[in-house]
Amino acid sequence: MSKITAAITAVGAYVPDFVLTNQLLETMVDTNDEWITSRTGIKERRILKEENQGTSFLAIKAAEDLLKKSGTNPAEIDLVLVASATPDMPVAATAVYVATKIGAVNAFAYDLQAACSSFLYAMSNAAAYIESGRYKKVLVIGADKMSSIIDYTDRATCIIFGDGAGAVLFEPNFEGLGLQDEILRSDGIGRDYLKIEAGGSILPASHETVDNKQHYVFQDGKTVFKYAVSNMADVSEKIMQQNNLSHDDVNWLVAHQANKRIIDATAHRMGVDESKVLINIEKYGNTTSATLPLLLHDFEHLFKKGDNIIFASFGGGFTWGSIYLKWAYTKN
Ligand SMILES: CC(C)(COP(=O)(O)OP(=O)(O)OC[C@H]1O[C@@H](n2cnc3c(N)ncnc32)[C@H](O)[C@@H]1OP(=O)(O)O)[C@@H](O)C(=O)NCCC(=O)NCCS
Repeated sequence: MSKITAAITAVGAYVPDFVLTNQLLETMVDTNDEWITSRTGIKERRILKEENQGTSFLAIKAAEDLLKKSGTNPAEIDLVLVASATPDMPVAATAVYVATKIGAVNAFAYDLQAACSSFLYAMSNAAAYIESGRYKKVLVIGADKMSSIIDYTDRATCIIFGDGAGAVLFEPNFEGLGLQDEILRSDGIGRDYLKIEAGGSILPASHETVDNKQHYVFQDGKTVFKYAVSNMADVSEKIMQQNNLSHDDVNWLVAHQANKRIIDATAHRMGVDESKVLINIEKYGNTTSATLPLLLHDFEHLFKKGDNIIFASFGGGFTWGSIYLKWAYTKN
């Protein structure tokens, strides 16, 4: 029997209806459209306004979109993996609730948290399960309600993040398509530069932590930017080298949408033409775990069976990496 590879066979997505534009942000904090656009490439982001709804709301909708479009029977799903930095609640995994809600009654489910690299790492997890031959359908959902951890009086962070979700289905492939190679990395130095100080086991929630606004994302943007540019470009270049891919061989760059300047720097180092660099940051901002599957969803119509896609991400922690995947289908 030929070797089993893990291919993406379906894609789904969901973003909330409410649009937070740069113009609206101008009325909330001391900022302006020109600054945001030139520094980040972002024009607007989506915000989940429904009361008492968390990340699972987004994840369920993205999964349902995938199931409907692909005609997948949820009872056949073996594993539901939710990549997220903003789970519904501590301890009880969001993925478990999502699996039950979508009818994945025979699946096991768990969350994976690696900040903005959560989805990339989850792709690696899913592929390993499939390649081993142990499971046949793994649903990977990247979902984040970033608005739940953002201080909308802090102009350094509130202009960047948005809410959204995307989902992909991994299945076995016998034609050599799907995930080909990966480079995944981490460095604990990052925990000082991008974090939420309180609410974890070091500093549990108290009146004081709330008063001090320690439950919101803090980011030293300049430092994170520096690490992101060099590390994301390094692994993307390296994965091309170790798979003997020239810039002509690469059909698409699917990179984490944190800042357009970081993506451009990565593409430049890879020597990949601008036309192959997929961008939707202007519409959604940084949706953390959802950026990669949202790109796949928005640009699925362009992909052809056999296309070489390089994924790249960088996130808090720090976490980063690159995946080389051969696309497995052409959409009619
Ligand atoms: C956040 C980020 C866009 C800021 O851009 P930057 O060019 O580094 O900007 P700085 O933070 O140095 O700020 C430059 C100036 O703009 C000001 N500024 C910051 N936010 C602003 C805003 N929203 N509107 C207007 N001015 C702003 C700063 O106060 C500073 O003013 P000063 O020079 O008078 O002190 C950028 O650092 C970034 O993208 N970092 C990485 C983000 C990332 O990848 N995060 C997630 C990883 S997953």
